[in-house]
Amino acid sequence: MATLPKYSVHDRLSELKAFDETKAGVKGLVDAGITHIPRIFHTPPHLHDQRPSVRADQGCNNFCFPIIDLEGVGGLGTDKWKRVAEEICDASSKWGFFQVVNHGIPTSVLEEMKAGVLRFHEQDLDEKKRFFSRDPARKVAYNSNFDLYSGPVANWRDTNYYYMAPDPPLPETIPPPCREILIEYSKQLETLASLLFQLLSEALGLPTNYLEEMDCAKGVNVMLHYYPACPQPELTMGTTRHTDTNFITILLQDDIGGLQVLHQDHWVDVPPMPGALVVNIGDLLQLVSNDKFLSAEHRVLASKVGPRVSVACFFSTGLLPNAKVYGPIKELLSEENPPRYKEVTIPEFVGYVKGRGLDGSSVLQHFELRSAS
Ligand code: OGA
Ligand code: NI
Repeated sequence: MATLPKYSVHDRLSELKAFDETKAGVKGLVDAGITHIPRIFHTPPHLHDQRPSVRADQGCNNFCFPIIDLEGVGGLGTDKWKRVAEEICDASSKWGFFQVVNHGIPTSVLEEMKAGVLRFHEQDLDEKKRFFSRDPARKVAYNSNFDLYSGPVANWRDTNYYYMAPDPPLPETIPPPCREILIEYSKQLETLASLLFQLLSEALGLPTNYLEEMDCAKGVNVMLHYYPACPQPELTMGTTRHTDTNFITILLQDDIGGLQVLHQDHWVDVPPMPGALVVNIGDLLQLVSNDKFLSAEHRVLASKVGPRVSVACFFSTGLLPNAKVYGPIKELLSEENPPRYKEVTIPEFVGYVKGRGLDGSSVLQHFELRSAS
């Protein structure tokens, strides 16, 4: 029987470097016509996940993904407002995920945004390489796998990202293939996020502006993901399972599918729905809500079909370099509901998350208060 060649840490590092130095990303491998994916992309045994998948094309089998209709939600305190807040409360506590429809963002903006992602990633390679960077101080950059060197495995995905708030990049620094639409899209998403934070505050039984006043929507990071078609999708992942480490994420996906959320020990497809946006709760919102809301694990499967594109818009504090602490919201606590997490500053939180990469383990657990027994 042939034995597999030994794959040392040293070999892995040089393969990662060689891949990174092409600055052509996963798309570059596919364009070169590879039929076998490099070892750096092979999912290691400890990240293999045997839990069953519930696929959207096989019906929802008791796992019907929550859909929330924001049509006419308008007035604070109206019946419709309260009903929507209840639905959001239910979805955020049971799933940590939901889709919103009739959210007020025109379909033309969503379509043009997806077209912008394709235009960025499929532009002339020399032009695209000008944006290639791993410098954390850059507000506009492109690379493949933010955690290429720190994470346990490379994913089948390239990403172009922007820090749009609180200090947006100068328009002329945004690549022309997506400049105009990116500015428009983030403006619209900030308005939608504001509405969602109001509804989430209501859902927690707090004053409407509570979460926004905690600066939950101050920082906006937009990621334009590009998942090329993969010749051996069973050996790798588009995105390793993870939770988002922010307050909320609003995601636009195309019609290819592959995003799954872990719900009751099943990987449930987040079904592509024309015109809808996917919303998910991040670790910081689970922490401040003292586990009322759930930051659910999710992942993206690699596929023979592609490219798939998505746009993930992360709302966080804007990484304020200050000493403001985030802990379970006092108004939510009682004798029956004691705080489950320590108070953390954002630099502490981000410091812990950084450098770990997507390794499949829980960030929140690290900040749990162990009950003194
Ligand atoms: C993310 C993410 C899902 C997708 O960027 O954190 O989970 O469908 N993206 O691209
Ligand atoms: Ni995510």
